[in-house]
Amino acid sequence: MSNEENGNNISRRKFIKGVGVGIAGSCVLPSLEQSAIAQAKEGGDAVHGGKELLSLTVNGKPVRVLVEPRMTLAELLREKLQLTGTKIVCNQGACGGCTVLLDGHAVYSCHMLALDAAEREVTTIEGLMTGEELHPIQQAFVDKDGYQCGFCTPGQVMAAQALLLRHPRPTREQVLEGMSGNICRCAAYPKILESALAAAEKIRKS
Ligand code: FES
Ligand code: FES
Repeated sequence: MSNEENGNNISRRKFIKGVGVGIAGSCVLPSLEQSAIAQAKEGGDAVHGGKELLSLTVNGKPVRVLVEPRMTLAELLREKLQLTGTKIVCNQGACGGCTVLLDGHAVYSCHMLALDAAEREVTTIEGLMTGEELHPIQQAFVDKDGYQCGFCTPGQVMAAQALLLRHPRPTREQVLEGMSGNICRCAAYPKILESALAAAEKIRKS
């Protein structure tokens, strides 16, 4: 039976897409927010009502948004930009569930302030897809059953992306080391390892 015929695979593909919805229109802010940004700019002062004007790039799109200084990058992505593919799991920099790329490097987005991403390039799980097409890493996780409950999966995929940017031909040891900051409570590690290695091969052949 082909993948397309296999209902299980289809539902798994839909699942992994589901952790990446929200890119389109993610940078469209409510008009009140837009006008507050305009006022902040006119005043020549980044501070507005205790918030600060933050400019950064998210998934290739420029974003300007008012944020409280205490807001984390994970909160910004999920609550302001509706990029809910990034998960907040431990919320204390201990599990890797919230991993995103910052200028191509994996970071725990729950563990850094949104303001520290000013003028930088953030990539989330939503930014990996091309239209409806899964990124090769996402596809490899589907093909290799690289998850069980899936809660850690967006972070695992982003950690794999960071790893493969550094090591296009990773050894098994490099994968283990590169993804050691991402905990899977379902202990799906053998399949996650297999998925990352398969993704590397898929990308090399593409
Ligand atoms: S949720 Fe950020 S490291 Fe666990
Ligand atoms: S698949 Fe369940 S936590 Fe990793």
